[in-house]
Amino acid sequence: TSAHLTIDPHFTVGAIDRRVFGGFVEHLGRHVYDGIYEPGHATADEEGFRRDVIELVKELGVSTIRYPGGNFVSGFRWEDSVGPREERPRRLDLAWHSTETNEIGLHEFSSWLEKVGSELMLAVNLGTRGTLEALDLLEYTNIAGGTSLSQRRIDNGRTDAFGVKMWCLGNEMDGPWQLGHRSADDYGKIASQTAKAMRQLDPSIQLVACGSSSAHMPTFGEWERVVLTHTYDDVDYISCHAYYEEKNGDLDSFLASAVDMDRFIETVVATADHVRAVVGSEKTIDISFDEWNVWYIDRYHGVDKIEGIDNWPVAPRLLEDVYSVADAVVFGSLMISLLKHADRVTSASLAQLVNVIAPIMTEPGGPAWRQTTFFPFALTSRLAKGSALELKLESPTYETEAYGVVPQVDAVATHDAETGEAAVFLVNRNRTEPITVTIDVSGLGAVQVRSADTLADDDVYAKNTLADPERVGMQVNHSASLAVGTLTIELPPVSWTAVSLG
Ligand code: AHR
Repeated sequence: TSAHLTIDPHFTVGAIDRRVFGGFVEHLGRHVYDGIYEPGHATADEEGFRRDVIELVKELGVSTIRYPGGNFVSGFRWEDSVGPREERPRRLDLAWHSTETNEIGLHEFSSWLEKVGSELMLAVNLGTRGTLEALDLLEYTNIAGGTSLSQRRIDNGRTDAFGVKMWCLGNEMDGPWQLGHRSADDYGKIASQTAKAMRQLDPSIQLVACGSSSAHMPTFGEWERVVLTHTYDDVDYISCHAYYEEKNGDLDSFLASAVDMDRFIETVVATADHVRAVVGSEKTIDISFDEWNVWYIDRYHGVDKIEGIDNWPVAPRLLEDVYSVADAVVFGSLMISLLKHADRVTSASLAQLVNVIAPIMTEPGGPAWRQTTFFPFALTSRLAKGSALELKLESPTYETEAYGVVPQVDAVATHDAETGEAAVFLVNRNRTEPITVTIDVSGLGAVQVRSADTLADDDVYAKNTLADPERVGMQVNHSASLAVGTLTIELPPVSWTAVSLG
């Protein structure tokens, strides 16, 4: 079986915004406590942050990090998380049925971000709070001094403003599980009011309105239309969230999850552009795909759930999915989907980063290691530079129960006009057959293959675990060869591949 694609650097989709390689840290389970922060750990620094985790986050190459939730933010009082630690209240976290100690808050997290070299993206609570509290937080973070709240920040040890640029107006407000869940109309109104007020305080910020929690919500499509009708002039982005999992042993459909992501993105773009026409605006709304991943949600609803009026644990083990090769292949293909839409997806956050549906795992007092999903993220973040290119892709197809007939191979290429470097990312969804792909790279001029690495395994369910943390990794793909403008490479069954050219 074979597939063919043509790379032409003239056919750009759009410039790749580094924010597409964002992450997400929620106060959830062992993400913050016993994840990034473990004061007693052998690698802990002077602030109690695990150095081994810091190194892995740097290696992953994460741009902007969304914080502090997620569902958590809809019950969060930001004031709890600043000021002297011994005075910070312990609070019930209703979203995850846990206790939040507030030991780590805005200041500490921001210091951790400096260590990992990422930018802060904050979400305000529009579930149980409103415009005033959002304004207070913005004053605290972005006003240099001379007011009560900016002075409070200075008194709390931070002289310079945090200067937070990107703000989410609540989280998943379309979801019935969300504290303060609203109708599209009600949410659209409060989002518009809050956005206007926040911009009055700081016109330089960028704002994200909540889109749908998935393309399969009953309100999908109409939610975006109504919310954007209220907020079109006030925001810069509409969010998308999507999680995929293998259901009922249907690996064929699972491997094609990115087809759903493609359709999701294209539908939201169409809806946003429809509203643009209706409101008569010149402006374009982009997508902030600020939660995406493989997540075995069904498992969470089954065994993980914490219950009981007297049972509110601190940092319980929650959502600790252990990812397989197949999961990582789907994950890599989701990154391909994001890049294919680089013209409109200009921000994205991998949900999440450490321990909680995460590429990085830790054991208290023990090691930190890379899950299978770590590799496609790290390689894509490192190699995808410049612009995403439109490919002419010819691929055999297969039939899936969930998405109909889909291509077996999917791919995206990127090209950096300044350096001449290019990269191609490919997925083979065929469960049994390798596929040879020929790629016409003559448009790139005299390039060489710098590297070609593939993630695949005879056991598609192989995983990295505490007992065997390096079971799965990237392998050099020795089949890659380039002659007279044609790159040929064999993609093993169920695999994800990154090729660097330059
Ligand atoms: O990432 C886990 C949860 O998924 C987030 O808290 C929520 O926004 C989404 O439903």
